[in-house]
Amino acid sequence: MTNILDGKALAETIKKEIAEEVKKIKAAGGKTPHLAAVLIGDDAASASYVRNKVRSCEQCGFHSTLIKREADISEVDLLNIIKGLNENPDIDGFIVQLPLPNHIDEEKVTLAIAPEKDVDGFHPINFGRMAQGMPAYLPATPYGIVQMLDRYGIETSGKHCVVIGRSNIVGTPMSILLSRKAKVGNCTVTLTHSRTKDLPAETRRADIIIAAIGRAYFLTADMVKEGAVVVDVGINRVDDASRKRGYRLVGDVDFEHVAPKSSYITPVPGGVGPMTVTSLLMNTLKASRKEIYS
Ligand code: GUN
Repeated sequence: MTNILDGKALAETIKKEIAEEVKKIKAAGGKTPHLAAVLIGDDAASASYVRNKVRSCEQCGFHSTLIKREADISEVDLLNIIKGLNENPDIDGFIVQLPLPNHIDEEKVTLAIAPEKDVDGFHPINFGRMAQGMPAYLPATPYGIVQMLDRYGIETSGKHCVVIGRSNIVGTPMSILLSRKAKVGNCTVTLTHSRTKDLPAETRRADIIIAAIGRAYFLTADMVKEGAVVVDVGINRVDDASRKRGYRLVGDVDFEHVAPKSSYITPVPGGVGPMTVTSLLMNTLKASRKEIYS
């Protein structure tokens, strides 16, 4: 039987839990968690993600600050904004929404964020701490997937997991987290990518598949073993004249044909996406409590 991994509902549950926690912190006279988000330019998708993050902060009783600048901001000016946020004791954590305009070096920006405020978990210090099993801010998407597998009670120990895609923010950290000695972990992981020789042969051996390549309908039913757990990270636009905006969002998985073969599967939208926001809130809560860096 196919079970839907309902990220939308689970994210709402987790947000309510965080809001309860924040109420207790406030009642005890503690600090209200405060997240800042930096948005550069007018990319519609980025603006919508950031709006969602800020709205979620409000739902949970956090303080939030949105810093918006035009796409022609200089790199120096952006680095100065980051410096100000690093030094502002009221800001517990912040993010700089990616992608950035071409004239700004994303690597430089990522390195400029103080690791103890890097609630996106993109700084190499957080990445390295994660890889060594030390306390760290975990990147939002892999952390959201770990939480989802945990809450749905999906056994990972001893399972064969195939990750498709080796990006710094999803595929690579996901492969590390699932191979860790942890409650959600202890998988045997195969990290696949564009140079993998026979990808369908790899995915057909998988108990758990994480699809994170960014290509619509990439994972088809013939690539999936009966009873596999399928997690779809993709958010791809495909033309759809029947929609007012002219497109619809689909994942990396051919959901219609893969779902009947899966034991568990995430939909798009409403699967992994909403869980990434709860990861960010969890990391900000940890930052305000100084749980990772004391
Ligand atoms: N762009 C796409 N995903 C993310 C994310 O998780 N964080 C930031 N800062 N930018 C993104």
